[in-house]
Amino acid sequence: MDSKFLKGKHIVLGICGGIAAYKSAALLRLLVKRGAEVQVIMTPAAKEFITPVTMSALSGKPVVSEFFTANSGEWHSHVDLGLWADLMVIAPATASTLAKMACGVADNMLVTTYLSAREHVIVAPAMDLDMFAHPSTRRNLDTLRSYGVQVIEPASGELASHLVGKGRMEEPERIVEIIEDYFRNVSLKSAPVQNRDFNGKKIAITAGPTYENIDPVRFIGNYSSGKMGFAIAAEFARRGAEVTLISGPVSLPTPEGVNRIDVRSACEMLKAAEGPMERCDYGIFAAAVADYRPANEAETKIKREGVSEMQINLVRNPDIAATCGARKKAGQLFVGFALETDKGLDAARAKLQRKNLDMVVLNTLADSGAGFGTDTNKVTIVTENSIIEFPLKSKQEVATDIIDSITQLNDA
Ligand code: PMT
Repeated sequence: MDSKFLKGKHIVLGICGGIAAYKSAALLRLLVKRGAEVQVIMTPAAKEFITPVTMSALSGKPVVSEFFTANSGEWHSHVDLGLWADLMVIAPATASTLAKMACGVADNMLVTTYLSAREHVIVAPAMDLDMFAHPSTRRNLDTLRSYGVQVIEPASGELASHLVGKGRMEEPERIVEIIEDYFRNVSLKSAPVQNRDFNGKKIAITAGPTYENIDPVRFIGNYSSGKMGFAIAAEFARRGAEVTLISGPVSLPTPEGVNRIDVRSACEMLKAAEGPMERCDYGIFAAAVADYRPANEAETKIKREGVSEMQINLVRNPDIAATCGARKKAGQLFVGFALETDKGLDAARAKLQRKNLDMVVLNTLADSGAGFGTDTNKVTIVTENSIIEFPLKSKQEVATDIIDSITQLNDA
């Protein structure tokens, strides 16, 4: 069963030396079955765990591992492979390969190809829990993220060492879904914009978390990545709108054509959002704003010595959606979110009224793949007169659903 998004795609599959290398065979098989053309590169250590014969039989191509074929002297060009690839996936990615990638240590075919790759790179780390938690691995992953590499977080469970913790490579089926999402998003972005239906409209969007400082090194925050709000901003911009995105601390690039204002705390977010929300045609409140902040921020780091228990007094933060909602003018349309764990519909309806919103997008942490951090979301769009439930989709697709629902509400 070919996949619309994978068919004909050139994927370089890098395999490192770890016990999870056995899962790479299943991953390769799934990719090939969905119509992708896959070139496997194995590190020398990977061949200790799974044979190149298995991988070349599954891919239908000789596996590349060395710079030269020993008997013929034929040179394998990492540059050509890097240019050929529409995507490079390294699964499993070991601590050592991640370190080499982060530092540019080009001592094997896999890392040289990574350094030559012009398209997107995804890594699926797999290692022992302590190796994964080690500050050097965390730092290397952060460095790779800052280079634009997409990291598929490992799952928790029993590891090869029989220790239990985070370090298991994500399952091949889930990796394939993530790869499909990537190509789906690429095709959405490159699709010709037929519908510039928000041309000339002004949009203001809050996104991401807020961080409320306790002292110079600690804060109260939450797990919002900003992906949902950024996807909405990108889609509005694609449809011709003038978009102002007020973002809490996130590590996402600014979508094309979007004017971004970075803030840290809820108070800063309110200050930055007031003007754009007053001037906009459509206001979207996708941020996960901390409801409380420490009453006093310590000027110096709070020391732990001699303190066995401590209390932090919290005060309520301003409600940005409610503040802007109370000032909403005729002709403006405001959309809020509701992030719930239970009784979602009641809470969404209450927020619609209390914050003077026209629409609430309900997402529930009880639904797997929904809410914080994920690339997907499952939402129910609630207005005064309707409740529409959507299936699990990529956040880009959810953004399109939300904007289409806004259009329908406008036309109603
Ligand atoms: O950023 P991601 O990782 O992609 O995750 C997306 C998301 C889960 C953060 C997003 O889909 C979402 O649900 N955002 C709202 C989260 C939230 O704080 O929900 P709430 O039910 O606590 O707040 C209700 C509404 O009031 C929201 O529109 C919120 O932005 C707004 N609010 C809340 C508190 C506050 N002090 N100011 C606000 O503006």
